[in-house]
Amino acid sequence: MTDHQPDGTSPPPPQVIVVGRANIDITVRIPRRPQPGRTTFASAPATTTAGGKSLNQARAAAGAGARTTLVANAGTDEWGTFLRRALTDAGVDVSHFQLIPSAPTGVAIVEVTPDAENHIVLALSPATELTADQVRDALRRLHAPTVLTQLDLPPDAVDAVIQHHRAETLIGNLVPHAALGSAVLAALDLFVCNEHEAAAILGRHHADPTIAAQELCGLGPRVAVVTAGARGAAYSTAEHIKLVPAPHVHAIDTTGAGDQFLGTLAARLAQNTPLGHAVADAVSAATAVVRA
Ligand SMILES: Nc1ncnc2c1ncn2[C@@H]1O[C@H](COP(=O)(O)OP(=O)(O)O)[C@@H](O)[C@H]1O
Ligand SMILES: [Mg+2]
Repeated sequence: MTDHQPDGTSPPPPQVIVVGRANIDITVRIPRRPQPGRTTFASAPATTTAGGKSLNQARAAAGAGARTTLVANAGTDEWGTFLRRALTDAGVDVSHFQLIPSAPTGVAIVEVTPDAENHIVLALSPATELTADQVRDALRRLHAPTVLTQLDLPPDAVDAVIQHHRAETLIGNLVPHAALGSAVLAALDLFVCNEHEAAAILGRHHADPTIAAQELCGLGPRVAVVTAGARGAAYSTAEHIKLVPAPHVHAIDTTGAGDQFLGTLAARLAQNTPLGHAVADAVSAATAVVRA
């Protein structure tokens, strides 16, 4: 799958490889969540956009100036083509973004309430899940200083990332309530999650995200980062713990804030930015999108 430039040379290698999923987001703004059996009218027409954590993270990394490749699949329907175009428009390399014949593309229904919170239902398309073979193949061909992966992919795909990546920095990200083996956490350079996910893993909620980060770091990753919405993000290494506060903004829609954070963080680490500065840049970039 070598992609040659018009002058016959190979394109420069990526700086960030994102391994995960892409889907369509259908977003509705609603005044309140519907009661059972009742209908709530949206306050504006629905929007249909490219989404999925990994796709958003890849776009954010590219936006932060890193050459970025997304390893993911979609279906051969019109949505798959739409997602590929969105990635190309954002400057993300799609040489390992595969459209799987006869498979539908996954769809997320995103409800946004006036408090800027979101409630998401993801209709995954099982046929477009990454296989261990695809991951192995992509990571053999691609070499980047930073690899960022979702940890809720099929377990053999996650294992393939851990075994076959050749990055200096392997970042793992989680969506809530996945069963996470301690061997997976220990294999990571950075583990990043939000405070709800941290509570699900630790079995209790800590009001202070620095405590959650410290406890997660104790589970094995070299660095644990806990994002805490309007309060910013905390990170912990074996040596030190820090909270990076977010600037106060009027939040309109917090959907994708965590993805903007992760993509920016991955880009900065690939660009050799020290950890504290990389987290601070990620907080500023994520805060900028919630008020957009
Ligand atoms: N209401 C908010 N005000 C300011 N910044 C925010 C707000 N919500 C999120 N952010 C920024 O986005 C980052 C990630 O948000 P968070 O809510 O923790 O993750 P998730 O997107 O997983 O819910 C935070 O660390 C912060 O920088
Ligand atoms: Mg949030």
